[in-house]
Amino acid sequence: MPPVIFAHRGSSGTYAEHTRAAYLQALADGADGVECDVHLSRDGQLVCIHDTTLDRTTSGTGDVADLTLEELRRLDAFSWKGASVPAEFGGETDQFLSFADLLLLLRRAGRPIRLAVELKHPSPFGLRLEEALIAFLMDEGWDPESSMLGSIEVSFMSFNPDSMRQLAESVPHHLLCQLVSDIRPKEVREALRFGSIAEGALINLLHRALKEGEALIDHQEVGMAGPGMKYIRAHTERVRRWIQEGVIVRAWTVNKIEDALFLAELGVQEMTTDYPARIRSAFRSD
Ligand code: G3P
Ligand code: CA
Repeated sequence: MPPVIFAHRGSSGTYAEHTRAAYLQALADGADGVECDVHLSRDGQLVCIHDTTLDRTTSGTGDVADLTLEELRRLDAFSWKGASVPAEFGGETDQFLSFADLLLLLRRAGRPIRLAVELKHPSPFGLRLEEALIAFLMDEGWDPESSMLGSIEVSFMSFNPDSMRQLAESVPHHLLCQLVSDIRPKEVREALRFGSIAEGALINLLHRALKEGEALIDHQEVGMAGPGMKYIRAHTERVRRWIQEGVIVRAWTVNKIEDALFLAELGVQEMTTDYPARIRSAFRSD
């Protein structure tokens, strides 16, 4: 079986991450699914963005959580990457996307599609992020038994084990993906924005979260593990054991064909990439 391929923040190697253009390109690239990071806006709306701040990927500055959805929608989330968009993608490709916008786009895909939602922590809203996501999906007609929303299969990911535990009450076990990574300095800097914790204490907390996350996978309290490439290289035998024990492994961010082939050899079933067409070409000839 070829691996299931997810477009990481859309086809974000081609177009600016989390934009309509990136997600439409993911569909055109033949991705089996798309990945999306979610945060809450000041008025409690789910929005698609990776960072807690707007500066890197939009025309805005400051915290995502300080603006309302209406204010966020006025931002240009596209131009920073400097690509132009094919005419067939239509207008509004620069738009900052709400999670509702993304669902609409995927509903119009005209084929079954998987959606991997990453709940981003630390969030100034804490686990209200999880509550908001489940409430929103229920309103949209999501079926918690199957995790289907029409032809969209929704799965949930987080580095935060508390997020997984909270979601476990509403989400089928096999669609919960505990993300794991050794400490990433960029994430530490982001996390230091919230609360008055010292860096050393924060690193201890992150280590503890990693150990708890690994334990959730070991004990199969979640059905999926989401290790990064560096983690897989450093802990290959642990990942191999997870696969042998029946855990589905969804690896990120797999942009090199040599990495994809190494993962396939290891038995990794799902891969998240900025370049879905490239990774797909390693396994399928159509
Ligand atoms: O797919 C999981 C991966 O996206 C986690 O890392 O930083 O890209 O959100 P990040
Ligand atoms: Ca992510």
